[in-house]
Amino acid sequence: MPDFVGAVDQGTTSTRFMIFDHDGAEVAKFQLEHEQILPRAGWVEHNPIEIWTRAGAVIQTTLQRAGLHDSDLAALGVTNQRETTVVWNPRTGRPYYNAIVWQDTRTDRIAAALERDGRGDVIRARTGLRPDAYFSGGKIQWILENVDGVREAVDRGEAVFGNTDTWTVWNLTGGTNGGVHVTDVTNASRTMLMNLETLDWDDELLSFFGIPRAMLPEIRPSSDPASYGSTIPYGPVGGKVPITGILGDQQAATVGQVCFSPGEAKNTYGTGNFMLLNTGTNLVRSRSGLLTTVAYKFGSEPPVFALEGSIAVTGSAVQWLRDQLHLITSAPQSETLARQVADSGGMYFVPAFSGLFAPYWRADARGAIVGLSRFNNDAHLARATLEAICYQSRDVVEAMQQDSGVVLDVLKVDGGVTSNDLCMQFQSDILGVPVSRPVVAETTALGAAYAAGLAVGFWRDAGELRAHWAEDRRWEPVWGEEERERAYAGWKKAVTRTFGWTE
Ligand code: G3P
Repeated sequence: MPDFVGAVDQGTTSTRFMIFDHDGAEVAKFQLEHEQILPRAGWVEHNPIEIWTRAGAVIQTTLQRAGLHDSDLAALGVTNQRETTVVWNPRTGRPYYNAIVWQDTRTDRIAAALERDGRGDVIRARTGLRPDAYFSGGKIQWILENVDGVREAVDRGEAVFGNTDTWTVWNLTGGTNGGVHVTDVTNASRTMLMNLETLDWDDELLSFFGIPRAMLPEIRPSSDPASYGSTIPYGPVGGKVPITGILGDQQAATVGQVCFSPGEAKNTYGTGNFMLLNTGTNLVRSRSGLLTTVAYKFGSEPPVFALEGSIAVTGSAVQWLRDQLHLITSAPQSETLARQVADSGGMYFVPAFSGLFAPYWRADARGAIVGLSRFNNDAHLARATLEAICYQSRDVVEAMQQDSGVVLDVLKVDGGVTSNDLCMQFQSDILGVPVSRPVVAETTALGAAYAAGLAVGFWRDAGELRAHWAEDRRWEPVWGEEERERAYAGWKKAVTRTFGWTE
C-alpha cells in the first residue's frame, strides 16, 4: 500500500491540494486563489474552467514539490465549497454559465415564492433546510430559466449539474472522455433536492424547481470502498489513483476534527463560519434557526447527521477590507491594524453582505456599521470586523445549546482565521469558554483524506483517526460576565439595524 493520501480542497476563495501520511500529518500542500466575479450587487460567480485549471495546477505543483508521484498515493479525496452550482455540457466540457456561488442572493425571489406557495414546510421536513437563496435548487432553476438553450440541452443529455465536488471529480476522471458524474450525500443534502430520510433526489422537490432528474449526479456515500472512479494517466495526477472520498467542506472539517460522537462540535473559520454538531444517527430538527444536514456516511454504515449553524460572511469581511476598501494588503494585517486600538471604540460592523444566515435567516438584511463617532478610525473598523466573526459564532452557539441541550465546555476551531490570535482570544472572551485549535488546522482537507483513506483500508477505523488529534493552542477567557454580556447586547442591537434593506 502506498504511504500517502491526497485531498483536493476546492474552496470559495482558493483551491488547494494536500498530502497526508499515515499519522494524519501534513506532508505537502499548495494552493491558488481564483477570481471572485461580482457582476452586480448581491451576485457572486466563479469561472468553472479557472477552478478546474487551478485544481490541476495545485495537484501537479504539490506532487512535484514533495517529490512524489501517483504511485505514492493510496487514494484521493475531494472536498468543496458546498451549494455553488455549475451546469455544463458533458460532451464539450464547457459550462453554460459561470458557477453561481453559495453567497449569491439573486435567487431570493425564488426562495420567497416557495414560502409564499406553501412549500416551506415540505422543504423543511424533507431536506432539513429552509427556503433560501443559499442552496443549489434555486440556482439551478435560475440557470434553466435564464440561460438560452439549457433546458433543451438537458433533454438531449447535454446539460448536467454539479457542485464543485462533482465538477472536479468529473474532470479528474476523464471529463469528456468518460468522466464520472457523482456526488456524495453531504453535498446532495445542501441542494434542497435530496430527501434526508431516503438519501435520494425527491421528485416532489424537483418539481418545485422544475429540475429534471436526468441532469443530477448519482448520490454516493462520503467514503466509498467501491470508488467513484480513478484519475486518468494524462491528467494532473499523472496516473490512476482511486477517488474514494467526497465530503462538503464543512462536513470534511467535522471528520478532520474527529467529531465522531454525538455531542461533539467544531467551528470552521473560512470565507464564512460553519459550526456543526454531531447528532448521531438521529435527525434532530432545529427550533432555533439551525439546519439539519448529513455529517457523513461511511460506506454501508448508516448516515450520521448534524445540526449546522451557517454564517455567510466572516473571513470574506476581512477580504472586503483588503480588496474593496484597500485598508490592508493581506488578511493577517487585519490583526496588526486591529491591535493599534484597545477596543472597537463603540463601533459594531455587521457584515450582512448576503443577508444574514443562522440563526436569523434574513434575506432582507444588508451590512451595517453602527455606533460611529468622529473618534473612530481604520483600526477600529479592523477590530470590529474581527469581533463580528466572533459575535456571529456566539449567536450560533446559543442556538445550538437551545436545540440540543448540549452545553459547550470547549470550542474546537479550525480554518484560516484561527491563526489570528486577537480574534481567537476575543472568541473565547465573548463565549466565556476555552477555544482549542488542533495541530493540523487544515482539517477540511484532512477530513476528505480520512474519508478516502478509510475506504481503501489505509486507516482502519474512526478510533485510529481519533488518536491523531492533538491540541496545538488553547485560548482561555479573561473577560468577566458583565463585560461579556454588555458587549454582546450591543451586537444584538446592531444586528437589528441591518433588517429591511431589500424589497
Ligand atoms: O456552505 C458554504 C461553505 O461550504 C463554504 O466554505 O470554506 O469555502 O468558506 P468555505
